[in-house]
Amino acid sequence: MSFLSATLSRVKPSPTVAVTTLAQELKAQGRDIIGLGAGEPDFDTPDNIKDAAIAAIRAGRTKYTAPDGMPELKAAICAKFVRENGLSYMPAQVSVATGGKQILFNALMATLNPGDEVIIPAPYWVSYPDMVLLGGGTPVPVECGIGAGFKMTPEQLEAAITPKTKWLIFNSPSNPTGAGYSRDELKGLTDVLLRHPHVWVMTDDMYEHLVFDDFKFCTPAQVEPALYDRTLTCNGVSKAYAMTGWRIGYAAGPERLIAAMRKIQSQSTTNPSSISQWAAVEALNGTQDFLPRFRAMFQRRRDLVVKMLNEAPGITCPTPDGAFYVYPSIAGCIGKTSPEGTLLDTDQAFATALLEETGVAVVFGAAFGLSPNFRVSYATSEDVLTEACNRIRRFCENLT
Ligand SMILES: Cc1ncc(COP(=O)(O)O)c(C=O)c1O
Repeated sequence: MSFLSATLSRVKPSPTVAVTTLAQELKAQGRDIIGLGAGEPDFDTPDNIKDAAIAAIRAGRTKYTAPDGMPELKAAICAKFVRENGLSYMPAQVSVATGGKQILFNALMATLNPGDEVIIPAPYWVSYPDMVLLGGGTPVPVECGIGAGFKMTPEQLEAAITPKTKWLIFNSPSNPTGAGYSRDELKGLTDVLLRHPHVWVMTDDMYEHLVFDDFKFCTPAQVEPALYDRTLTCNGVSKAYAMTGWRIGYAAGPERLIAAMRKIQSQSTTNPSSISQWAAVEALNGTQDFLPRFRAMFQRRRDLVVKMLNEAPGITCPTPDGAFYVYPSIAGCIGKTSPEGTLLDTDQAFATALLEETGVAVVFGAAFGLSPNFRVSYATSEDVLTEACNRIRRFCENLT
């Protein structure tokens, strides 16, 4: 009998972790490595949020809380949904967990039965399919190519729905592409869902505040109120407030689902850190003045990276609407040979050769379910990005 769970054999180790590990190994050998793999802002958490956490510690707010969030944070989340999304929820419809990741995990564990299908537009955030597999469900990736702006069409959604479909996981702006759905594009998808009342929507709005130019963020339950009773609207403080290490994510949705998620949490992590919850109260209720500054900084970096990568032969880099990633196509490089003689037959081979020969670490597209591409996280300084893009351009210029 196997010691390890059979469930584990269904999931693969994270490819993003593999890239990061290789980059760290090369760095430890003294190599000059530029890491463009990390999915977190390089800014520090704003001081008012840190101060709220310190005050919570000093006030002795260091004990267990209600499993899915303390009342003060749930109130702040309800106010946020009204203020920013025009969505009204009662505290009993809100769940707080240890990061956005645990929210998604709890929701899938609470609802999936063997054979349940989950539609996932590809490219997707790496964890979605594996979480579905861990829950015993079947991921149904729907390929959304560069020509479609990496977005799913209503026709694709209609074709992917079967009687077994339980969820659509929706993510806009997206990790890894930064693509955002306009209100009209989203309405096209919600119209399809109206015709299929058994399909629920799990919307991952993690990058809501990181949008550029005149892009207007919108979320499914806001665009189509008739979906309110079968939508779980997920969000978190990690990305917008530079709080990745604090581990607070949250969601709102039907009370029955929130209660099921609470049950899972009460038997696993009990509750998210009380100190982080107080910090999140301040993040949501406190000043939002730094957000335009964060956005402007990311937009400058986006423009720099898109321009420079498009100057590299064989690379086509679309301009994203939000988040802090670009997802260029390397179709023009596939089949060529790297300066040190590696055949670049896949995007994984490209990313590995790029790292070994130039020291630039990116994540290959196959990890996100759409090839041949790679993901760059531009959450780093303009000097570092300029150097990295110059190395990528030189690498592409010397392919044969
Ligand atoms: C699309 C998306 N959803 C969820 C998460 C998880 O966020 P958290 O760090 O709050 O768990 C991430 C983090 O990379 C993400 O990119």
